[in-house]
Amino acid sequence: MQPQPDTPLLQVQDLTKIFSIRQGFSSKQFHAVDQASLVLETKTPEIFTIAGESGSGKTTLARMILGMDDPSRGTLRYKGRDVAALTRKEKRSWFLKQVQPVFQDPFATFSPLKRIDHYLYETVYNYQMASRANADAYINDVLTSVGLTLHEVKGRFPNELSGGQAQRVSIARALITQPSLIVADEPVSMLDASLRMSIVNMFRKLKEDQKVNILYITHDLATAFYSADRIAIMLRGWIVEMGPVEKVLGEPLHPYTKNLKNSVPEADPDKVWTEKINLADMETVEYTRSGCKFAGRCPAVMDICRKKVPPNIDHEGRMVKCFLYGDEAPTPAT
Ligand SMILES: Nc1ncnc2c1ncn2[C@@H]1O[C@H](COP(=O)(O)OP(=O)(O)O)[C@@H](O)[C@H]1O
Ligand SMILES: [Mg+2]
Repeated sequence: MQPQPDTPLLQVQDLTKIFSIRQGFSSKQFHAVDQASLVLETKTPEIFTIAGESGSGKTTLARMILGMDDPSRGTLRYKGRDVAALTRKEKRSWFLKQVQPVFQDPFATFSPLKRIDHYLYETVYNYQMASRANADAYINDVLTSVGLTLHEVKGRFPNELSGGQAQRVSIARALITQPSLIVADEPVSMLDASLRMSIVNMFRKLKEDQKVNILYITHDLATAFYSADRIAIMLRGWIVEMGPVEKVLGEPLHPYTKNLKNSVPEADPDKVWTEKINLADMETVEYTRSGCKFAGRCPAVMDICRKKVPPNIDHEGRMVKCFLYGDEAPTPAT
């Protein structure tokens, strides 16, 4: 069955993942991802960024979209097909070929004991992308698209490559099956700042040249602003604002997006350390809070925010999950 041309590439609808946290002798459930919905269209390839601070559910959402974890609730459709209803064979030979991952740490992706080209040949043969006679040429073409050559990579162990080179190889590995979507979870956060833009630039080029969609997950708004077409901002499992990147980051509406945009990296290492501890505590409190997850930190908090979950509101060309923008927005508490 061929999908209609206007069937979306990816439809994430109300995707939810429930985990338990231990509290003393008992445990409490929380929604690590809570009713996340987003759509990637087929017609125009996109770089779609999912951004948010650590512990906002980005990786959990990515793992569900990659088919690595089953959602607790909600549906994931790829080219119109419900991924949960695929047979094992369809999932392996079709879905996992179309949707490819890139992870944060290339040195954790590749075994230190295996030559790195092994992964490229293995993927070519597993998915029958080229014959043995043509594999070198095929792999060299893919490596060229990420700024490398087979000559530079062949026979090398991962530790003989720089972090930037190793991440390029892991992107090449993802490209071998000619996917329509790459889900890249913090792909540049372990690289030097000077290398980040070059990888992000490469994503833009891959989108243009190969029409591949990229779900780019990051906590770094600078690379997001530079590369993304659209962005979703995540906060404790919720998508709180979503739309064109120049709108969402240019003129943020949600108080959390504003806060994220204005937060500057902390220079004092001791302070970072104490703040990290506070952040971990805050994570549990916010994840299990009723009402709006941001109510405890929000400069515009109102009474209703502590009582009710804010609705998803369409406002100025984007979605924003905040009582400030509803038709009947209550007047701020004084
Ligand atoms: N397998 C798991 N079991 C229980 N809790 C988890 C698991 N994976 C992630 N979490 C929790 O879910 C929340 C979201 O985590 P994660 O998706 O990794 O966020 P992010 O990628 O935005 O940092 C965190 O509180 C994290 O501790
Ligand atoms: Mg993560």
